[in-house]
Amino acid sequence: MARGAAFLGAEYAILCGAMSWVSERNLVSAISNAGGFGVIACGAMSPELLDAEVAGTKALAKKPFGVNLITMHPQLFELIEVCARHKVGHVVLAGGIPPKGSVEAIKASGAKVICFAPTLALAKKLLRSGADALVIEGMEAGGHIGPVSTSVLAQEILPELAADNLVFVAGGIGNGAMMAAYLEMGACGVQLGTRFACATESIAHPDFKKAFFRASARDAVASVQVDPRLPVIPVRALKNKGTEEFTAKQIEVAKLLDEGKVYMGEAQLQIEHFWAGALRRAVIEGDVESGSVMAGQSVGMVSKEEPVAEIIATLMAECEAALERR
Ligand SMILES: Cc1cc2nc3c(=O)[nH]c(=O)nc-3n(C[C@H](O)[C@H](O)[C@H](O)COP(=O)(O)O)c2cc1C
Repeated sequence: MARGAAFLGAEYAILCGAMSWVSERNLVSAISNAGGFGVIACGAMSPELLDAEVAGTKALAKKPFGVNLITMHPQLFELIEVCARHKVGHVVLAGGIPPKGSVEAIKASGAKVICFAPTLALAKKLLRSGADALVIEGMEAGGHIGPVSTSVLAQEILPELAADNLVFVAGGIGNGAMMAAYLEMGACGVQLGTRFACATESIAHPDFKKAFFRASARDAVASVQVDPRLPVIPVRALKNKGTEEFTAKQIEVAKLLDEGKVYMGEAQLQIEHFWAGALRRAVIEGDVESGSVMAGQSVGMVSKEEPVAEIIATLMAECEAALERR
């Protein structure tokens, strides 16, 4: 973990993965001030909004923090400029392969680049393209997910790359003993989201937090694709009225397609737009019935509101205890 901590400039190599609407100035600064590494979720923010959020976080944080940018954001390069102006030390590129020139633009500002690697081949390619560190994230995670579990990704990627490169593991980590296992396999640190989403410092609505405390692992389900003609981006969230209605919507639109009542483009747009604004509704407004309550399978290990510092202390104590038993 020392390698990961030195890279991040943090006491512990524990990243709080960026969570749209949740990872804003309060949670991000609390994580960094408690010895972890907070990351602002830029999501769909405009450059002006990101500018204000970074400034606000700087005012609260006494330690370094990062910014997570989504690669398909239409203003990606303007967002990179905002990070450069603020001298943000670490930029995480999420949501797909970084477009041409983006890694170079970030590095030109002096910042480190962290990328998500979905396979071993892409991990090698990202390192060759200049990524300073990688996150491998399994399908146990909350939010947008790939198809492979964390344990399998770790077995495929860590033995090949972790000795000579910085690899953080994410997805399904709720206990420090699990952190210890990935560190022993060569990871330089870990990234957690679900475990931190309901911390005392998180601005998430009380009803969003209550939904987490009530839920068990089996309630955090991946979105279902009903028809191969209608693409669905897999997201792991707590099952609710919204997830049921999404399945019904797909069946309805597929039927309209069969009957020739809608064109393919229109049908696909209807599916794509179904969840527009749904994460905000859940996190900020507390609409846990029809909003998107993104959560990972480790949600069953989140049972009460705790300050970030306590969560980190618990994780580190569990991790040390596990390593001492060996
Ligand atoms: C509510 C929520 C929102 C998320 N939003 C984002 C996001 O905007 N960008 C991103 O790269 N990852 C996002 N994630 C994934 C987290 O950054 C993190 O990688 C993931 O939660 C780790 O797995 P875990 O949930 O099992 O701890 C989100 C996760 C959750 C639970």
